[in-house]
Amino acid sequence: MSTPTTPSVHNRANPFKARITANYSLTGEGSNKDTRHIVVHLGASGINYVPGDSLGVIPRNPPEIVDELLPHLGLDPATSIDQPTGPVSLRDLLIHQYALNRVSKKFVKAVLERLPEGERKAKLAEIVGNDEAFDDYIYTRDYTDVLVDYPVSFTAQEFLPLANKIAPRLYSIASSPKAHPGEVHLTVAVVNYHTHGRQKRGLASGFLAHGQPLNVDGLPVYIQPTKHFHMPAPDASIIMVGPGTGIAPFRAFLEHRGVEGATGRNWLFFGDQKKATDFLYEAEFAEMQRKGLLTRLDTAFSRDQAEKIYVQDRMRENGAEMWKWLQEGAYFYVCGDAKRMARDVHQMLITIAQEHGGLSPEAAKEYIEVTFAKTEKRYLKDVY
Ligand SMILES: Cc1cc2nc3c(=O)[nH]c(=O)nc-3n(C[C@H](O)[C@H](O)[C@H](O)COP(=O)(O)OP(=O)(O)OC[C@H]3O[C@@H](n4cnc5c(N)ncnc54)[C@H](O)[C@@H]3O)c2cc1C
Ligand SMILES: NC(=O)c1ccc[n+]([C@@H]2O[C@H](COP(=O)([O-])OP(=O)(O)OC[C@H]3O[C@@H](n4cnc5c(N)ncnc54)[C@H](OP(=O)(O)O)[C@@H]3O)[C@@H](O)[C@H]2O)c1
Repeated sequence: MSTPTTPSVHNRANPFKARITANYSLTGEGSNKDTRHIVVHLGASGINYVPGDSLGVIPRNPPEIVDELLPHLGLDPATSIDQPTGPVSLRDLLIHQYALNRVSKKFVKAVLERLPEGERKAKLAEIVGNDEAFDDYIYTRDYTDVLVDYPVSFTAQEFLPLANKIAPRLYSIASSPKAHPGEVHLTVAVVNYHTHGRQKRGLASGFLAHGQPLNVDGLPVYIQPTKHFHMPAPDASIIMVGPGTGIAPFRAFLEHRGVEGATGRNWLFFGDQKKATDFLYEAEFAEMQRKGLLTRLDTAFSRDQAEKIYVQDRMRENGAEMWKWLQEGAYFYVCGDAKRMARDVHQMLITIAQEHGGLSPEAAKEYIEVTFAKTEKRYLKDVY
């Protein structure tokens, strides 16, 4: 296994102010998504990492969101707020410290309390009183959306405790430090959606894509070392399943193995919506195949035909070969969506153990979940 990352002075509490030196779309014209390649320059930070680690990013709000919200709250942007480091304007405090793209439940409850008795109050009370309806309500709304529907005002001292503080977001690192010294590359799917008549973005993905100008120090980052998602010995074979942004750590693994001249075989499964627009890093992987670094590449484009084809369908089609690799000692890595993809890929591994290992359903489950994953530690996940 690769050596774990040595701790840095920069961490969640003391992030390094890095700069973005490249930021471009990997998805083409006509894609349903905007997935970006972001290059973060680590300057003189002394930060180091290994493939499998993630980058922690501490985002901030676009100033326009704050400027739009403050009149609805009835607040002056210049209001001075005491902080441990000295007074700051309410506008600056909100930009840097409070997550404003999704309304908090405690704020909605405070709005409800302030509403005069009547039809509107009854309608909001019904939503707040039903857990599912309340979750749905806050999922698509920010503070401005709520105040447009229910105009009530707050003092700064009343509002601040009702909003949630910004939390860092993690991104799987998509580069090898040996291929790109001093840099961290990321593969970021920008969260973009239109609700209640307004266009919105994810806080961190929006900030990485649109909030930080190129070549300016000011992106607070730190390394979140992986506990378990390490590369195996250079001569071990690896099977990597990484649809969508799940591809990120595998680009790092492949780059690293290329630089180190690792002799182990590399088999990659990639999937996304459409080949023409969503084949992330297509040219790089073609070059790796040409050089013999990428032994096999199997792709599953889900929306290029009437029926969905997913990475686990490609695994099944190649089940005999995959079982052979696993029996010969290959490691199996999966990265990306936890809720659906990783669960289905897990199930497919069990199916392959049944179909090609001749195991009963119970024995196949035991083999994958206990022997393969826990005893031999050859099944590793980085899912979110
Ligand atoms: C270990 C780890 C590794 C990760 N690696 C990557 C990676 O390599 N690449 C990557 O892109 N991500 C990765 N992620 C996910 C990443 O951390 C963020 O969760 C992701 O970028 C979204 O964050 P955000 O701040 O942009 O969105 P948020 O501000 O968290 O926005 C999400 C909110 O927007 C609202 N919303 C979102 N979509 C809609 C919609 N369609 N309609 C209505 N409302 C909506 C919801 O309220 C939702 O809660 C990883 C996560 C983990 C834990
Ligand atoms: N559970 C969720 O809410 C959820 C799920 C996925 C992604 N996301 C988020 O959406 C953003 C963009 O994601 P992404 O670009 O990384 O890719 P993604 O949405 O995970 O999609 C990548 C590919 O995986 C396919 N897919 C969907 N369900 C699958 C399943 N059960 N098994 C195997 N493949 C499956 C998709 O097909 P189709 O889209 O055509 O079905 C697509 O071809 C990320 O921020 C991610 O965290 C959220």
